[in-house]
Amino acid sequence: MQDTKPFLKHIQFLREEIEKAIHQIPLEKSPTYFYDPIKYVLNGKGKRLRPILVHLTGQVYSSDPEGLMKAAIVIELLHNFSLVHDDIMDEDDVRHGQPSVHKKWDNASAILAGDGLFVLSHLIMTGLSPYIHQRFNEVSLAICEGQGMDKEFEHDASITMGNYLVMIGKKTGSLLGLSAEVGALIREDSKDSAHHLFEYGLNLGLAFQIQDDLLEIYSSEASMGKSLGSDIHSGKQTALTILAREKNPDQWKNFIQNNNAISDYQSYFESHGIKAETEKVIQHYIEKAQDGLNEIPEEKRDNLNQFTTMILNRTY
Ligand code: IPE
Ligand code: IPE
Ligand code: MG
Ligand code: MG
Repeated sequence: MQDTKPFLKHIQFLREEIEKAIHQIPLEKSPTYFYDPIKYVLNGKGKRLRPILVHLTGQVYSSDPEGLMKAAIVIELLHNFSLVHDDIMDEDDVRHGQPSVHKKWDNASAILAGDGLFVLSHLIMTGLSPYIHQRFNEVSLAICEGQGMDKEFEHDASITMGNYLVMIGKKTGSLLGLSAEVGALIREDSKDSAHHLFEYGLNLGLAFQIQDDLLEIYSSEASMGKSLGSDIHSGKQTALTILAREKNPDQWKNFIQNNNAISDYQSYFESHGIKAETEKVIQHYIEKAQDGLNEIPEEKRDNLNQFTTMILNRTY
């Protein structure tokens, strides 16, 4: 068995450096209506997985550390912007272990805070290459498209696994893809590798989102630090509901007509083999992600392999 301690120590170091950089973002005091919710978001307890991934891929290419930190912060701001607006869209009241912005303040404050986070991310990008700006905007648009599909798919029993994978590829996969890709893009001469790294991050993102759907049913609000169960109540298409519908259409239709508790969903998914099937799909995308790393010289692949395993084994 590989000793994971040096890797975990490295991740801890990166996380601390990322926190420092986030807290150094210059923010005015007033208007407090605008800045207080932004500060609240930046002080939240995100896992910082995307900026960590930026650094890990960047280190493979010995990219300039200052440029990497810039890109890392830009991506974390974009991520947090999407979460603030996502919680309004999903009517979820808890994020990062605290009330979501629209719950602590109101929708107007949360819309504005999200706008502010997005604009700040653009300002911090100043100095990075025009191509990185372009990729950032392409991915921002993909996230919005994915969020649009996520809403459009609600309560739509005709949605297939294929439709779902396109949707999560956009709303979640694209930003993990960019996080991996940008580590190479910071070095202009590593542009050719960027495409493979995007594929790695995209597949990792698919696995990550499917796992998030699974944790929504099998984890707890306390350990996830966010509202759970809303997927079911708002009729979201998730890997589990789609697999359940495709496997036993009539039984599933009858089942969801009841006023089920989360524990009923847990038993249904387990007894019909849906949980096991979902785990297989996660494993499939993790392996696909790992294939994308073949582009990287073997002796430099270790941290990214360990990062991939860390995602596969996450419990929150
Ligand atoms: C949450 O992502 C949104 C999804 C794509 C499922 P993270 O779990 O990475 O968000 P943090 O760590 O709470 O910021
Ligand atoms: C989050 O998707 C994706 C984006 C914010 C772009 P979800 O709505 O599935 O994630 P959670 O469960 O709220 O974190
Ligand atoms: Mg949500
Ligand atoms: Mg959502």
